[in-house]
Amino acid sequence: MMLTHTKLRDKFAQFWKTKSHKEIPPIPLVPKEDPTTLFTGSGMQQLVPYLLGETHPLGKRLYNIQRGIRTQDIDEVGDNRHTTFFEMMGNWSLGDYFKKEQIVWCWDFLTKEIGLSKSNLFISVFAGTKFIPRDTESISIWKSLGTPQSKIFYYGPDKNWWSRAGIPDNMPVGEPGGITSEVFYEFTQVPHNSKFGPKCHPNCDCGRFLEICNNVFMQYKKEKDGSFSELPNKNVDFGGGLERILAAANENPDVFKIDVLFPIIQKVETLTGKKYGKKFDDTRSMRILSDHIRSAVMLAADGVIPSNKDQGYFLRRLLRRMVRFGKNLGFDKEITVNLVPIVVEIFKKVYKDLPSKQKIIQSLFETEEIKFRNTLNNAQHEVEKFLSRPFSGNKLEEKYAQLAFDLYQSMGYPVEMFIEDVRQRKINLDINKFHTLYKHTFSKHQAVSKEGADKKFKGGLADNSEKTIRYHTATHLLHQALFDVLGNQVRQEGSNITSDRLRFDFSAPKKMSGSELKKVEAIINKKIAEALDVWYKIVPKTEAYKIGARAFFKEKYPEKVKVYFVGGSISSPQTAYSKEFCGGPHVKNTKEIGLVHILKYEKIGSTLYRIYAK
Ligand code: ALA
Repeated sequence: MMLTHTKLRDKFAQFWKTKSHKEIPPIPLVPKEDPTTLFTGSGMQQLVPYLLGETHPLGKRLYNIQRGIRTQDIDEVGDNRHTTFFEMMGNWSLGDYFKKEQIVWCWDFLTKEIGLSKSNLFISVFAGTKFIPRDTESISIWKSLGTPQSKIFYYGPDKNWWSRAGIPDNMPVGEPGGITSEVFYEFTQVPHNSKFGPKCHPNCDCGRFLEICNNVFMQYKKEKDGSFSELPNKNVDFGGGLERILAAANENPDVFKIDVLFPIIQKVETLTGKKYGKKFDDTRSMRILSDHIRSAVMLAADGVIPSNKDQGYFLRRLLRRMVRFGKNLGFDKEITVNLVPIVVEIFKKVYKDLPSKQKIIQSLFETEEIKFRNTLNNAQHEVEKFLSRPFSGNKLEEKYAQLAFDLYQSMGYPVEMFIEDVRQRKINLDINKFHTLYKHTFSKHQAVSKEGADKKFKGGLADNSEKTIRYHTATHLLHQALFDVLGNQVRQEGSNITSDRLRFDFSAPKKMSGSELKKVEAIINKKIAEALDVWYKIVPKTEAYKIGARAFFKEKYPEKVKVYFVGGSISSPQTAYSKEFCGGPHVKNTKEIGLVHILKYEKIGSTLYRIYAK
């Protein structure tokens, strides 16, 4: 009988509860206050301080199932196992048990709870280096569990070492890491493909073996001189891929066949009339659509909005690739609007906030989809014309780099799409060379257009900036109005202002009611109507705090700061309506702002809210 994802989740939780583990709430996909990583990429993300030695409030034995995104896998999606979004089942020992208990429990979970056949399981252990010895302890524990020597493989730090940054050499100072012992499932029905090497083995990429879980023995910390010191505790960081364990439990080497992905594929089959598994290109496109829509929905549910930067850009890339691969399947409209509900249906019992966000996510994606489909249709016409022309000569990369830049510059056609076009036509392009030339063209042109913009600005043509400045001052009014209505627990979490609108993120103990929201808007407009002067003063930081200026807690300030006031006067700054640490610029008087409307108010995290206003 098929093992479902819900059943697996239950089994996992039950298993660790009986071993006195406490569940830690999973964190959002965008880790708060960690600018070093774009997305949560593993369950241990939230545990870094504790792995380094801090005391965890819930104790030394923890578990959870954490959602994650691995952006680096985006180009691999299409084979039988890579996905950008995944769920990781994790358990941790913070200086409590170590190798013996972990390996035995990991084995019990896989073989007794999930019922994986021992004959299909293979193990990898750390082979040892000059500085860190071979992991003979793990080897003997695996053997004591009946694993024959023939099923234990030794690998070096490139395979059997884990840290957030990868191999030991890549780790920044202070990062925790350790040797690993991994478990692989062998799908005997998949023949070895000699393209990947003469002999198959657990870490071979042919698809016969699937890594299903990883026991990390977190025991080291990177030091300034490049060496490793022992952490105060010997910790365990275990991660099991939910999708992969399900694939193994169901004896199916294709993770897209399991119930957290297959309903999406089935919907695509219905909508396109194409059959999954028939033609490789169609199968690949279907896998890409099903993976990307999951990632996109989860990201949007966590407050990410398509944009040209950071997390927003990754979301945009996912949506664009869906449009693009949908087109390959003849799926030429309403992709997202059709697929979002399927993702919500699959996960609504696990991630309970999804149903209430479905509509908003659909409309957000739909706008993006329509916009990009136009670009794609226009660009594809050009690409078609160009790539179908026979071209020989040794300057292929240069020629293509020019074209790719032209398409980007004239219609915003992303370079990675162009590369896909080239790949699809099986044109032999040196991608590295192409990239170097593309980057060169890009930076040359960017320098020119920046110069152009500077000139324009000097000529006084700063229309957009004037609007942005108005929204900036409106943001200060909004910030103070939120304090007026919700009290002193409001915290600014971020803001983003364009010439079209302002966006303000803040945390507050509870959600505002409709009437409170109206009150906030009314206060802002009242202050605008009062025609208050906006002015600033540079003062020592201590004085700024004394007069009650609001600082942004995420920022570090120098000894002297600029404080912007709305209302009040130099002789009585205390009486100003708003006081904020801020570099400016701002309007001179609030009457320049004009009426402000709150367009949208939404919850984007457990105590995190977002306001859009215009
Ligand atoms: N942190 C380990 C991993 O992500 C378990 O593989």
